[in-house]
Amino acid sequence: MAKTKIAVLISGRGSNLQALIDACKNEEYPAEIALVLSNKADAAGLERAADAGLETLVVDHKAYEDREAFEAGLDKALKNAGIQIVCLAGFMRILTPWFVDRWRDRVINIHPSLLPAFKGVHTHERALEAGVRIHGCTVHYVRSEMDAGPIIGQAAVPVLKDDDASTLGARVLEAEHRLYPACLRLVVEGKARVASEHVPMRGSVEAGQRLFNPSPFRSTQNDVKPDNAA
Ligand code: GRF
Repeated sequence: MAKTKIAVLISGRGSNLQALIDACKNEEYPAEIALVLSNKADAAGLERAADAGLETLVVDHKAYEDREAFEAGLDKALKNAGIQIVCLAGFMRILTPWFVDRWRDRVINIHPSLLPAFKGVHTHERALEAGVRIHGCTVHYVRSEMDAGPIIGQAAVPVLKDDDASTLGARVLEAEHRLYPACLRLVVEGKARVASEHVPMRGSVEAGQRLFNPSPFRSTQNDVKPDNAA
């Protein structure tokens, strides 16, 4: 069966792009990356794309008169490449209602927090400051309000005792790299359709799966046992 053509939009490092590149290498994966587009010419992710032999394009927002003109440029590039689904992966431009409506339910994003908590930047610093015990990441459909839109999937990680933003961020990032390809697959397979601004759940984890932090199990120095263990 023909694969769905996706574009990955980046502004920087591109580690989520890499996760999508790796997923797309699998013959059974239903999507192929037809375009990697960056608004910055020096985005490291462009090199990853080139290494993988992918089509790349720089659409520099600074070269356009205003946001609308930039987005018209984006729209044209995506149409020219026959793109069906757009994945934002560290793309640091806010999209206007014009673009979002034109591509409604065909643009998804990954955000490094359990939305709706910690929208915006510096999510790991803010999670630590708030003292949350569980943090994570979210893949969602894009709307014109920043970091909002129907949630497709989330992954949770514990916050650990000696975490700083960088150790916590690395733990979340590892989860991102697994979550994004999984959610994109759902979208491409038509298993994550939006209804009344929600994505109805079709499958989920077992009800018994829980992430406790701290663990409810009493712990001795080298041993972790349930409370009722002998
Ligand atoms: C990721 O943390 C992603 O959640 C956020 O921006 C970061 C991009 O990292 N939207 P990378 O460029 O994919 O490595």
